[in-house]
Amino acid sequence: MLVLDGKIAAAAVKELLKTKTEQLAAQGKRKPHLAAILVGNNGASETYVASKVKNCEETGFASTLIRLADTIDEASLLSTIHELNSNPNIDGILVQLPLPKQISEQKVIEAIDPLKDVDGFHPINVGKLVQGLSTFIPATPYGIILMLEHYQIETKGKHAIVIGRSNIVGRPMSILLSSNLKQGNCTVTICHSHTPNLKELCLQADIIVAALGKPGFVTADMVKPSAVVIDVGITRVEDSTAKKGFRIKGDVAYEEVATKASAITPVPGGVGLMTIAGLLKNTMHAYEQRANG
Ligand code: GUN
Repeated sequence: MLVLDGKIAAAAVKELLKTKTEQLAAQGKRKPHLAAILVGNNGASETYVASKVKNCEETGFASTLIRLADTIDEASLLSTIHELNSNPNIDGILVQLPLPKQISEQKVIEAIDPLKDVDGFHPINVGKLVQGLSTFIPATPYGIILMLEHYQIETKGKHAIVIGRSNIVGRPMSILLSSNLKQGNCTVTICHSHTPNLKELCLQADIIVAALGKPGFVTADMVKPSAVVIDVGITRVEDSTAKKGFRIKGDVAYEEVATKASAITPVPGGVGLMTIAGLLKNTMHAYEQRANG
């Protein structure tokens, strides 16, 4: 059984990006620059955004973190986004989700310049993804593709099951895996809370991507021997013995599934780290597009 190690695969992606950034500096050019907006102080969002900023630094990118109060109104947030859209020094913009209730996430997503939309959530970029055109691929599915590529996991002709249909992970993942790409060409089944025969479907899968946000949901009896199992779950579960008072749990019951799978991603240390690699790749892509535009 192969552990698909996010630390190793992400480090390989980051190393290439760092070399590119050093080459840009040697040519007297500016660095790729990511702007992240964090609204409020949701603990998980704080951690993710801090990690995004830290990874920018490690890769030689510039980053700007804009923190806004959770009481901010929608118009003020939209105005901050418009400023970043028109700032020539900013290549990529991300607004960490979820947002407080008074703000429409859809309006926020649509306010970001599609050419700076490094999350790939803007409908224009989602449309491009569906049509197989060059675009920003949402960071988590992108990271999973990069992971499959790093470990040279064959996907062509395989049956992939994606559990979860979110705009952030499940839906774009299903599109990518069915696309005519090196890490695609799968027959894809997308499952969700209304799928009645989930276990039977999972047992047919060569590749399972679990992205439903239910800790330990995928158990060994749902997995075909030698399947590849990708765990996207990152739920905080209370644990008084842990230093922070919680542990991060994946959607897969790792210990038991690992005995059956041919390859599996751990949580933590798997897909989460690849999400950042996907985001950094998108930021470089935004920089290059803008520099050539
Ligand atoms: N919240 C959870 N995942 C993501 C992500 O990939 N991007 C943003 N902006 N927010 C998120």
